[in-house]
Amino acid sequence: MNEKQIAAEYAVDYVEDGMIVGLGTGSTVAFMLNKLSQRVKTGLTIKAVSTSAATTKLATTLGIKISKLNEIDEIDLTIDGADEVDENLNGIKGGGGALLYEKIVASISKKNIWIVDSKKLVKTLGKFPLPVEVVQYGSNHLFKEFEKKGYKPGFRNVGKNRFITDSNNYIIDLRMDRIEDPSVLDIKLKSYPGVVETGLFYNVADLVLAGIGDSVKVINKKKREQT
Ligand code: A5P
Repeated sequence: MNEKQIAAEYAVDYVEDGMIVGLGTGSTVAFMLNKLSQRVKTGLTIKAVSTSAATTKLATTLGIKISKLNEIDEIDLTIDGADEVDENLNGIKGGGGALLYEKIVASISKKNIWIVDSKKLVKTLGKFPLPVEVVQYGSNHLFKEFEKKGYKPGFRNVGKNRFITDSNNYIIDLRMDRIEDPSVLDIKLKSYPGVVETGLFYNVADLVLAGIGDSVKVINKKKREQT
């Protein structure tokens, strides 16, 4: 098993019968969904909400029924991946382009668990390009603004075409290198008309499960401990 899978499978033990569970997006989450579906098939009863079309598709294929977010009150637990996590459990997400729905789901979750491999644990965020979801209209102007600021922007593409999010927006990835204060940058970026959401998730994760070699490091928001 690789580190992503080890962390992902460990996370499934946090899911309890009767919970409303938020399902993140990405390759680590895919491992989690596989394991979760085994528990569902053997009697675990949950309600699940999804953070992307891709997760909805995979979960449904695996026999996990997806409820509409507007039809549930509060989410008990969301399990999601991340692209980078710092020592304060702030993170960059959106490498898969699902940052907007991921942030909405996280914001109404009582508990958020992130599952990552060891390469994603960093001292300071920013080496991973920061995804910013922007409306298509006028996005070239936003791009130029980001360029002027020295954010080293790049439109995300799939082959020759622009990547389109589940909400029909573009993603501009910023090569910041070092993000000293995620909350300040997040507020600054969101002040640009046309910016829908950023991949900066601060004060969101309650627990990070990091696959390190053959074991899982359980990192709580305040203290770190090894299991
Ligand atoms: C999806 O938009 C992202 O936030 C993912 O959670 C993140 O990119 C981690 O993806 P992997 O699990 O595929 O590395």
